[in-house]
Amino acid sequence: MIRMLRLLKIGALILPALLFTLAAWKDRSEILAREEDDGVKLVALFGEQAEHLLSGHEILLDIVVEHMRDRGWDEVPTDLLHEVEVIDTRLDGESDILLADANGDTRATTLHLQPQQAMPVPDRDCFLALSRNETKTCISKPHPDPVSGSNLFSLSRRLEKDGEFNGVAQVAISVAYLADLWASATPSSSDVITMFRSDGTILAQSGTQSQAATGQTANGPNFSGITATGSSAAGDDRLTIQRKLTEYPVYISLHLDKTAMLAPWYSNVAVYGVVAAITTIGMMLALQIATRRAQKERRVIGLWQAEVQERENTQEQLRQSQKMESLGQLTGGIAHDFNNLLTVIIGNVGIVQGKVQDSDDRRMLRSALRAGESAVSLTQRLLAFARKQVLQVRPVDLLGLVEGMRSLLSRTLGPDVRLTVFADPQLWPSQVDPNQIELIILNLAINSRDAMPTGGTLSVTLSNGETGPAAPRDLAPGQYVVLTVSDTGTGMDEATLARATEPFFTTKEPGKGTGLGLSMMQGVVSQLGGATRLRSKPDRGTEVELWLPRAKTAPRESAVYMLHHEPQGDGAILVCDDNTAVLEYVCDALRTKGYQVLPAMNGRTAISLLGENESIRLLIVDFLMPEMNGAAVAREVRILHPRLPILLITGNADPEATRSDLPDVPVLRKPFDREQLATRVAELLAA
Ligand SMILES: Nc1ncnc2c1ncn2[C@@H]1O[C@H](COP(=O)(O)OP(=O)(O)OP(=O)(O)O)[C@@H](O)[C@H]1O
Ligand SMILES: [Mg+2]
Repeated sequence: MIRMLRLLKIGALILPALLFTLAAWKDRSEILAREEDDGVKLVALFGEQAEHLLSGHEILLDIVVEHMRDRGWDEVPTDLLHEVEVIDTRLDGESDILLADANGDTRATTLHLQPQQAMPVPDRDCFLALSRNETKTCISKPHPDPVSGSNLFSLSRRLEKDGEFNGVAQVAISVAYLADLWASATPSSSDVITMFRSDGTILAQSGTQSQAATGQTANGPNFSGITATGSSAAGDDRLTIQRKLTEYPVYISLHLDKTAMLAPWYSNVAVYGVVAAITTIGMMLALQIATRRAQKERRVIGLWQAEVQERENTQEQLRQSQKMESLGQLTGGIAHDFNNLLTVIIGNVGIVQGKVQDSDDRRMLRSALRAGESAVSLTQRLLAFARKQVLQVRPVDLLGLVEGMRSLLSRTLGPDVRLTVFADPQLWPSQVDPNQIELIILNLAINSRDAMPTGGTLSVTLSNGETGPAAPRDLAPGQYVVLTVSDTGTGMDEATLARATEPFFTTKEPGKGTGLGLSMMQGVVSQLGGATRLRSKPDRGTEVELWLPRAKTAPRESAVYMLHHEPQGDGAILVCDDNTAVLEYVCDALRTKGYQVLPAMNGRTAISLLGENESIRLLIVDFLMPEMNGAAVAREVRILHPRLPILLITGNADPEATRSDLPDVPVLRKPFDREQLATRVAELLAA
């Protein structure tokens, strides 16, 4: 649209200029054609007049020649000349008639000479031409009248006696008469009319003498039509129209001054120019307004489209998160039940394994335990994706954590992949569950290793970050520690990248990947209050960013993420779980470690047993129970027995379990094996 308006603007400039030029050119041509037409008519008219004038004078000569035929010079009748003189005066106002003998001496004339004045001689050239009988009638060069001084040219005829040359008869024609005649009829004072002989001798001319054109025939001596030619000779621009007289070797030419002819055209051009300029300005203004409006509309449409796109994106995100939410609930529910079942299976298989002597049976039980442990790790990942992982969040020095993983990572990556670690020297501590972060880093390293089959580099970078344009969008304002894991591997195409964090999405062969690594990472990081971001291009490697919340306090120097204490086998422990299988398994495990155990099927029973037995040194309570859950039991016990250690066992991370009013209640995640249980119990009893 805007491009079209720009083109129109150019058109609005060019079109009026073009129209102006066309109109001006047409007008000029029309004016010149009209003037030429008028000029042609005028020349025809002048030619006609000249022809009449010459033929009139020739009739006079006819009369004289007729009277003088075969007469001697002493017989010239004086009244003949006077008669002819009268007629001649009527023709052009001048009356010069002259008769000369064969010697060229004037023998009779109508000129009224002064007493001492010499007789004029006839035109010499004509006299010679007529004496040689070269022409019938001769037209002379102009010459001044000896009496009046005005310019004349004359017409002469040969006189004969007995067939011999006997002299000439000559009548004069007034140049001034012709000039006045023409001057009164020419359109402009700068126009010039010339009458000239075919040899170029000018006979008469009207107009300013400085502009006088020389007598030149444009079409050769025998030309008898009318011709018009433009000339710009000597710097002036003229139009010449020329005509030859029918009976005489004489031409009439009219030189028209183009500047004078075009005077009305110049004023027309000025008017056209003003109209064209006004039209152009008007069109440009209108187009400018239209362009502004179109630009504004385009801006508005752009904003509107961006808004629509934004809304569509938000809706898509909402749909995706709703999908993940329901998938998470379903997965979480299944994983929770599986946890309980696995706790019992692993526990009991463990007990049976201790009692069986036969080596084949023991091998089978070992593989059953390994399968159970794999199932445990799978349910852990499912819970993580469902954001139901029990997180042990604390301030962690991530650089220390990564450095601690170096040898594990190097072993995992193999000899062909180089590992580099960069960290901001002022790196903030982060508020995370170190075990989960270790698992995430390990999974990312495995992904990168799989993407670099021929080797490459894996970089782990740690930096400080704040929310802003550079941060992921769905992040609460604040400060974060950014953990970036990048590789130089095969990368992902757009379709793979879009689905990489979906649970169970994998491109690996069956048995090589569950497709839960990245979805678990996303679940844990968002459960921690952070966000993740993936960037990847085919053959350009992959970069995974984890934005983890900054810790408000520094991590304890002595923090060790995986404690391995030997259990201490004494003291009474109260175990509370509504699930009899779990209750039995826990009690049995503790008993085999030498602890005294008191089982309770619900919270109320547990609280009353506590009141009755002062020997109880620890309460182990399941979180998810009907009527009174583990947290409620723990809160009440805190009041009644503030110094009693409590261990909460749970299969999922119900928000209640990590409530802020129970910050220091340790949690043991289901499923756990006997050793894990014994370790936690020993820690709590030793504290
Ligand atoms: N660094 C990487 N380079 C290239 N592709 C990757 C990378 N990381 C992940 N992917 C792609 O994303 C998919 C999903 O990764 P994810 O870690 O979630 O599952 P997985 O590795 O396939 O299985 P597992 O559950 O064992 O981790 C991978 O199958 C792979 O196609
Ligand atoms: Mg993986």
